[in-house]
Amino acid sequence: MRTPERVEIRRVLTETPLARQHDRMLTGKVTRRGVSVPWSKFRRSRYPEPALALACKAQTMLATGEYEAVDLFSRLASGLALNGAPIDLVAAAARVATDEIRHADYAFRMAALCAGDDEVKIEVRSRRAEARWGRQLDLETLDQMMIEIPAVGEALACALLAASRARATDTVARPLFTSILGDEVHHTRLGWYYLAWRAPQWTRPERQRAADRAGEVVVEVERRFWWGRDAPEGSRKAARALGVLESVGQRAVIDQIMTEEIVPALDQLGLGASHAWKVRKRGGGG
Ligand SMILES: [Fe+2]
Ligand SMILES: [Fe+2]
Repeated sequence: MRTPERVEIRRVLTETPLARQHDRMLTGKVTRRGVSVPWSKFRRSRYPEPALALACKAQTMLATGEYEAVDLFSRLASGLALNGAPIDLVAAAARVATDEIRHADYAFRMAALCAGDDEVKIEVRSRRAEARWGRQLDLETLDQMMIEIPAVGEALACALLAASRARATDTVARPLFTSILGDEVHHTRLGWYYLAWRAPQWTRPERQRAADRAGEVVVEVERRFWWGRDAPEGSRKAARALGVLESVGQRAVIDQIMTEEIVPALDQLGLGASHAWKVRKRGGGG
């Protein structure tokens, strides 16, 4: 399926709650609640080195993921626009990109505070998205990206960030997680609203291909998230206080969000995810 040369666009909104939110956003009735992060209050000396090192690593990885998300959501916004998707979806996707660069910035700052050094560097795979999804996105590619990136990926991110936030007592780490989490909730909804808009239009083969992709994503999740960051004895409390998520906790979080939310939601779209979840690749090599 190729995107036509010229695309006719009218002002169409979805029939999801996103449309109402979009209208309220335009009239200035809703703005996202900002959370300020008191960076200068961080006291590095309160924490043992192993906890700081783990938190630094976690924030550096977070910065990488957030930075790559700027590219992914910019592509999604562009793909939605050029395929004539409803305006509320295009607007929401464009907003996500600006959220992600702010999250990347936050994670950079937190990593630097934990490292006690401003020289935090990340490595971004600049060709990855294009190699994976192609230069121009057609609707079916958008379906696959939406399943993988916001619907499943951002839902997992929400669950993980919520777990980090629940552990974090640090004066800086806690508001940082609160702020990021507040946005990620909207990001995952974008995926589900998109799918709610698209699902009724799918032909049987399109639905099947979407189901195949959903299945591929679902079978990998447990193994992908099996290992958290486990602090050595004596640094565990401090690592938790900085929001570091240990393996056992992470496994429980992933299992819960998959079985209670993601798998049932995919099933409801006719994507048969519970079968994929039953035959998933098990963590720990099992
Ligand atoms: Fe983010
Ligand atoms: Fe996000």
